[in-house]
Amino acid sequence: MTETLKLTNVVKYYQDGDARIEVLREVSLAVKPGEFAAVVGPSGAGKSTFLSIAGALLRPSEGQVYLAGQEITQLSQKQWTKIRLEQIGFIFQNSELIPYLTVMDQLRYMSVLAKRKGQEQRAQDLLTHLELANRLQQYPAALSGGERQRVAIARALMNDPQLILADEPTASLDSKRGREVVTMLRDEVHANHKAAVMVTHDERVLDLVDTVYQIEDGVLKKKD
Ligand SMILES: Nc1ncnc2c1ncn2[C@@H]1O[C@H](COP(=O)(O)OP(=O)(O)OP(=O)(O)O)[C@@H](O)[C@H]1O
Ligand SMILES: [Mg+2]
Repeated sequence: MTETLKLTNVVKYYQDGDARIEVLREVSLAVKPGEFAAVVGPSGAGKSTFLSIAGALLRPSEGQVYLAGQEITQLSQKQWTKIRLEQIGFIFQNSELIPYLTVMDQLRYMSVLAKRKGQEQRAQDLLTHLELANRLQQYPAALSGGERQRVAIARALMNDPQLILADEPTASLDSKRGREVVTMLRDEVHANHKAAVMVTHDERVLDLVDTVYQIEDGVLKKKD
């Protein structure tokens, strides 16, 4: 089976005068369809850098990134934009919803960007599934943190991406809401054969994922 996401020997460094700051050292990992992986590690370990490289937002200094078997490492910015829009769903720490769009419009906007028509029913179904059916016409300011993160999940799924990348999705939530959000993410990954990588500090949700990786000083290792 082709892995949805594969990184081989990814190195990322920044040059600071004569010094070379190594942020990722020979990072390799593979995530299959239907697999929910977590990456844990201390602040500054390289988690967000790793996720940016996996999500076609940042180029590695060395190594390769593959999405569903296609090498994307050296594609143009324009090709990256298309890949991000059509094949990857992003979820961030603070949901990053657009303040002047209603819940329903947050999802409609994703279809507009991807130039896809006739997605009304999909938007409604996703929001209903994430228990937001009674919030469709609300603006983000009127929602709780947990509701906002659920809208962010629905938005990330809107264009039916094969890969979901989440950077600390529970950081702004209490433990109960955090668990609910991660459970919904897991159910989506398993039911629809998505691949997902979640970066987290939150050890309490690790029982919900399939694979756990630890990253420290830019070195990634599988935890058993
Ligand atoms: N553009 C850059 N130039 C130089 N160093 C950078 C740059 N971007 C990130 N770094 C360094 O890379 C290291 C890893 O950063 P990264 O944001 O990936 O960590 P993180 O694990 O996500 O941390 P946190 O848990 O605090 O979010 C840090 O030491 C950071 O200062
Ligand atoms: Mg980070």
